Amino acid sequence: MPSTVTRDTVKTEIDWYAEKARSADDLMERIVQCLHERLVKYNWVGFYMIEESQTGAAPVLVLGHFQGAMTPHQRIPLNQGICGAAASSGKTVVVHDVKSDPRYLACSLETKSEIVVPIFVNGKVVGQLDIDSHFPAAFAPEDQALLEHCAALVGKQLEKS
Ligand code: SME
Repeated sequence: MPSTVTRDTVKTEIDWYAEKARSADDLMERIVQCLHERLVKYNWVGFYMIEESQTGAAPVLVLGHFQGAMTPHQRIPLNQGICGAAASSGKTVVVHDVKSDPRYLACSLETKSEIVVPIFVNGKVVGQLDIDSHFPAAFAPEDQALLEHCAALVGKQLEKS
């Protein structure tokens, strides 16, 4: 049975993974697993990475490592959803009540709140970390700080590769 721990413990665990990670992909897999297992309100955890088109078509967010229910949103254009809003603005988006946000693309009927944190490589948005919760207003400033830290670790790892 996975145990629930504090955000500080999770941060320490993820910092340790970041030191040992062999690749950004490896680190993203570990982060998803750790956040989903350890924090009870993090019911869906996943990364979306921006795929640039070779043919001049608009870039899209493509689902990468995730834990939680299967989502119909495996590819999201940058002008759609909470995910698209975070990627195109380069700012973290916190939605306390997804029903009241017209941008929201539903993944599960159980989702009540969501946070999306962009990932930067050399100052450019390359992807994002997305968390959905079955609890309303699940994401406090401390969650935002933890998740922005995770996104920064992934960005640094991507800069190395
Ligand atoms: N809710 C997101 C779509 C992704 S799923 O939550 C996994 C959005 O509005 O962009």
